[in-house]
Amino acid sequence: MKTFYIETFGCQMNAHDSEKVVGTLVREGYAQVTDEADAGLILYNTCSIRDKAEQKVFHRLNEYKKLQGEGKKFAVIGCVAQQEGEKIFEKAPYVSLVSGSASYRHLPAMLARLEAGETRITGLDDRQTDETFDTEFTARTNPHRGYITIIEGCDKFCSYCVVPYTRGKERSRTSASVLAEAQMIAQQGFTEIQLLGQNVNSYRDPSGKRTFAELLTAVGEVNGIKRVRFTTSHPRHFTKDIVDAIDAMPALCDHIHLPVQSGSTDILRAMQREYTRDWYLERIAWTKAAKRDLSLTSDIIVGFPGETDKDFEDTITLLEAVNYDAIYGFKYSPRPNTPAIHMHDSIPEHVKVERLAILNARQREIQRSNYTRHLDQTMEVMVEHGANNRGQITGRSSQNKTVNFACDITPPIGSYIDVRITQVFPSSLVGEATSAPSALSPALLAQRALNARVEVLT
Ligand code: 5AD
Ligand code: SF4
Repeated sequence: MKTFYIETFGCQMNAHDSEKVVGTLVREGYAQVTDEADAGLILYNTCSIRDKAEQKVFHRLNEYKKLQGEGKKFAVIGCVAQQEGEKIFEKAPYVSLVSGSASYRHLPAMLARLEAGETRITGLDDRQTDETFDTEFTARTNPHRGYITIIEGCDKFCSYCVVPYTRGKERSRTSASVLAEAQMIAQQGFTEIQLLGQNVNSYRDPSGKRTFAELLTAVGEVNGIKRVRFTTSHPRHFTKDIVDAIDAMPALCDHIHLPVQSGSTDILRAMQREYTRDWYLERIAWTKAAKRDLSLTSDIIVGFPGETDKDFEDTITLLEAVNYDAIYGFKYSPRPNTPAIHMHDSIPEHVKVERLAILNARQREIQRSNYTRHLDQTMEVMVEHGANNRGQITGRSSQNKTVNFACDITPPIGSYIDVRITQVFPSSLVGEATSAPSALSPALLAQRALNARVEVLT
């Protein structure tokens, strides 16, 4: 029996890539195991967006090395694989396969070479391919959410970011193939779909049939789909028709993740973000003018080379102007191959730490007041986790907010239930169930049983 173990790091794109890689391996006759000690092939799906990701990978590989004597094979895939390429073979000679995400469509051929005993297999043809990695064999391991990649890669080249070098050039799937996948997901009983892309709203239908906003609407119209999410949007391509589409269709979730990165126009220019503070705020004004209460979230980098106190202050005032419901703040970290690596990393670590702390503290205050708007509201929540040790169930609102609630019964994961909000915290809501949970479709239960079988073949 051919067996594999996979470990995934990083963003939702990586998580979903792993679902596709798992599906491909199972299709090729491999069985997934949950303990690396039982696996013939160990795959490590890596992330290199921040920090010293490469070092972490080699550290982890060294731990795996202990397992080497038992005839195991090792594969490093994903962003660090693409970034480090064949250097991985030098540093970790027991690795046999190194592949970036833009080469996953060659996985069956690479696996065949691995099985034939080759030990230096690479899939590193990034920024050359126009092809995407679509497979009908995706192992949908998330119990309540079906992911669909609509666009891969990135052509934006923000000066701090490694993604254009690790994930290749932008390539969109036809809207017809996206819709066919959405229909398949709905038939499997999923009610929630998340459309994925590094720059999801740079989507360009190769068939020219639908704009991104039209694709959102079309996915929302698929029978059985109740929630459609999409990440990550880029302000440069954020058009008003996206807001109009959300306004017109309740199935499109009332949440927009629109990373600003900095509130200073000078820093945005140095980051090569292709917009100014005012341009960004104009897009935010569209979302504020919407009929629905749209929740806004963002990513922010502090300590970019040359960021002055005034630039940082601009970021703080932007937080206040937008009134975000959540932000993900990061300290700038220089990444290999990026233009910013040639800039002097001028902000000392202690200043980065301090700015990040100020940013997070200010945002916490904003959220503390923001979340009070939900007090006494009754909202539909999708159940994501069973009861915790205090007997609370955890779910998510359409706005993507965590809702903890008490319930007489344990509602199934993936069901919907109405919850009245009785208490608010800066990053979660607390309430009590006011309805019975919706029933899960038999198709979803069958799908989960199938997934369980994939994982239990250990
Ligand atoms: N340093 C710090 N944060 C970064 N991000 C991307 N590259 C870097 C970097 N070099 C952050 C951005 C992006 C998020 C996914 O990670 O905010 O939106
Ligand atoms: Fe990186 Fe910028 Fe592309 Fe986002 S848009 S993946 S931050 S280069």
